Amino acid sequence: MAILPIRRYPDPVLRATAAPVEIINDDLRRLAADMIETMWEADGVGLAAPQVGVGRRLVVVDLDPGNHDPRVLVNPVIVKRSRKKETLDEGCLSFPGLRSKVRRAFGVSCAAQNLDGDIVEYRVEGLPARAIQHELDHLDGMLFVDKVGPSDRITLREGLEEFEKEFAFAREASSGG
Ligand code: NI
Repeated sequence: MAILPIRRYPDPVLRATAAPVEIINDDLRRLAADMIETMWEADGVGLAAPQVGVGRRLVVVDLDPGNHDPRVLVNPVIVKRSRKKETLDEGCLSFPGLRSKVRRAFGVSCAAQNLDGDIVEYRVEGLPARAIQHELDHLDGMLFVDKVGPSDRITLREGLEEFEKEFAFAREASSGG
């Protein structure tokens, strides 16, 4: 297994719509295992394939962060969201150090294939439900900062500008310009 580099905002791969996974093979299993290792190394509770530069509908989530219960969701879809919502501080491994309040459904039902190709339904509430919603958004190029309410936007803006500057700087350095 290997720790993969995590792409940071505003890397364009984070804004692309991921394509469905068509074949579940050993390459995909290896990628999923590496994503779980990468998620733990970074102290995260979820990671989506676009965050490691792979434009496929694959995410890993830890359904029980206290005890580690990692699940691999292939081609996941949210089947149902609870009417009850919750607003909590949220972060993302592609925005290290940045947090903001995001309102999401408290519970979800999510259907996904596992690494054997079987369809599994997950009914979760609280943190795992938030993680699943956050990771599935990544597959459609949607980021948590897009969901921040108007009152937190101004403070968030400064944080985003720092990431934008760093990204532009790293890009210039790597192009030798
Ligand atoms: Ni994220």
